[in-house]
Amino acid sequence: MKTYVVVITGASGSVYGLRLVEQLLSAGGSVTVVVTRAGRDVMEFETGFRLPETAASSEHSIGAAQAMLAFLELPATLPLRVVDQSDLFDAAASGSARIDAMVVCPASMGFVGSVAAGIATDLPERAADVMLKERRPLVLVPRETPMSLIHLRNLTSLAEAGAVIVPASPGFYHKPGSIDDVVNFVVGKVLDQLGVEHRLFTRWGE
Ligand SMILES: Cc1cc2nc3c(=O)[nH]c(=O)nc-3n(C[C@H](O)[C@H](O)[C@H](O)COP(=O)(O)O)c2cc1C
Repeated sequence: MKTYVVVITGASGSVYGLRLVEQLLSAGGSVTVVVTRAGRDVMEFETGFRLPETAASSEHSIGAAQAMLAFLELPATLPLRVVDQSDLFDAAASGSARIDAMVVCPASMGFVGSVAAGIATDLPERAADVMLKERRPLVLVPRETPMSLIHLRNLTSLAEAGAVIVPASPGFYHKPGSIDDVVNFVVGKVLDQLGVEHRLFTRWGE
């Protein structure tokens, strides 16, 4: 079973992160999710879903995972863990953990700047730092427009360090008919990077 870490920050577009979690679980993956404090607020504002509070205590985190599975209309038995942003004792904080890939979706410019500067003061930043140092797959889905020179330089640094940048910029050549189609296009591009099979969009030439 493949093991994934998905971080949902406070950039606009938490719906992308939620769709990604749904797809990775449906594909048979085991998923650890971290939603930042800003991510919780933006997620509630944009989707209506308020993730229950998490803490280092597993009791709280189980409730958050169950609530997310229920919101995604997935079976409660699927291997989803929701871990608190502050939990530096989680496996994802260590290079010795077996994590196949990490995706930050959507990634705020604040997160991008922190990781580009080598800052690792919470679990999402530390886990990204670990993926880069271990040369493991790290996919970032930045959501900002326009981008300043600082944003562009930070993304360039991360790409140079090995991260794959998949901007949340949907194409329109597949003729989307709904917001779902637009979301699926971006999430499908992320899954392509992870080598996960999906049917979220029709491929060019199919
Ligand atoms: C409704 C809303 C939308 C936001 N959208 C973005 C965005 O698209 N990109 C971004 O970089 N920050 C965005 N922000 C700002 C981030 O939430 C803010 O910088 C936050 O500190 C990021 O923290 P985090 O990286 O720990 O989640 C948004 C904030 C709000 C309230």
